[in-house]
Amino acid sequence: LDETTTLNNGVKMPYFGLGVWKTDNHTAQNSVTEAIKNGYHLIDTAKQYGNQAGVAKGIREGLRQTGGNRKDLFITTKVFNGDAGYDSTLHAFYDTLHELQLSYIDLYLIHWPVDGQYIDTWHALEKLYKDGLIRAIGVSNFDNERLQNLLDHANVTPAVNQMEYNPLNQEKEIHEMARMTGIQLEAWSPLGGGEALNDATINQLAEKYHKSAAQIILRWNYQQDVITIPKSTHKERMIENSQIADFELSNEDVQKIQEMDKKKHSIWYDEFDWHNPTDPNNTPETVEV
Ligand code: A2P
Repeated sequence: LDETTTLNNGVKMPYFGLGVWKTDNHTAQNSVTEAIKNGYHLIDTAKQYGNQAGVAKGIREGLRQTGGNRKDLFITTKVFNGDAGYDSTLHAFYDTLHELQLSYIDLYLIHWPVDGQYIDTWHALEKLYKDGLIRAIGVSNFDNERLQNLLDHANVTPAVNQMEYNPLNQEKEIHEMARMTGIQLEAWSPLGGGEALNDATINQLAEKYHKSAAQIILRWNYQQDVITIPKSTHKERMIENSQIADFELSNEDVQKIQEMDKKKHSIWYDEFDWHNPTDPNNTPETVEV
């Protein structure tokens, strides 16, 4: 799916890309290279994943093998909790830029809202954006209350809010707020960490459309105007996930998926105390890969 959406600052962002959470450097390198070779433009990483060096190598190799141009890619990364605050975010950004071996980032997100600090972090992102080092800035995992507080203090409106979003956890209030404020919603773990793939409704639709369960969910994301970044380390699945342009879910079938919402977080969500920047678990080294 090559289609793009236009963010609130005019920058075009692909609707579809590759996530590399829980992927070590070596695997991330291979996944990113394969993705670029198979037509992916959007790659989503984060300092917290501990794999930016691998992503950098994967980008270089993918562009080398395809003869592609950096400008054709859209690279997202994120500032993590331990780096929250104005000066520390600026430092973290330059480290990240160096690690990714890039001269600019397409989209830089606040990974999680660290209470008491996310406004200062945001002002650092605004500076980097104004300095031309980032094409768009946004947030991740912000509920409506924190997003509103950020909007009250922001000079630049976030372009994106990246949330856990899948048929079992649709975050309808957050999606509605995003629509009303012109913020693009983006889904992490769109397959619900794999759980939504086993759902009976999704599998009935897969049979009906002669598509896989993953393709039904990812097509639904697109029809909901949600950018999606499924993770797969398998080439065949990576290709499968990207093949969602050749069919359309009927309104009635979209409605069936809407009704699946259980407001149930995936197994990943409660793994860490994400809001606490001093939690020793909140370091990239302790993320299982
Ligand atoms: P793998 O990396 O082994 O392919 P999410 O992005 O929602 O967190 O889901 C990622 C999980 O879903 C990973 O465990 C990934 O496994 C698996 N996955 C990704 N694409 C597919 C697919 N097309 N079919 C089945 N499982 C998939």
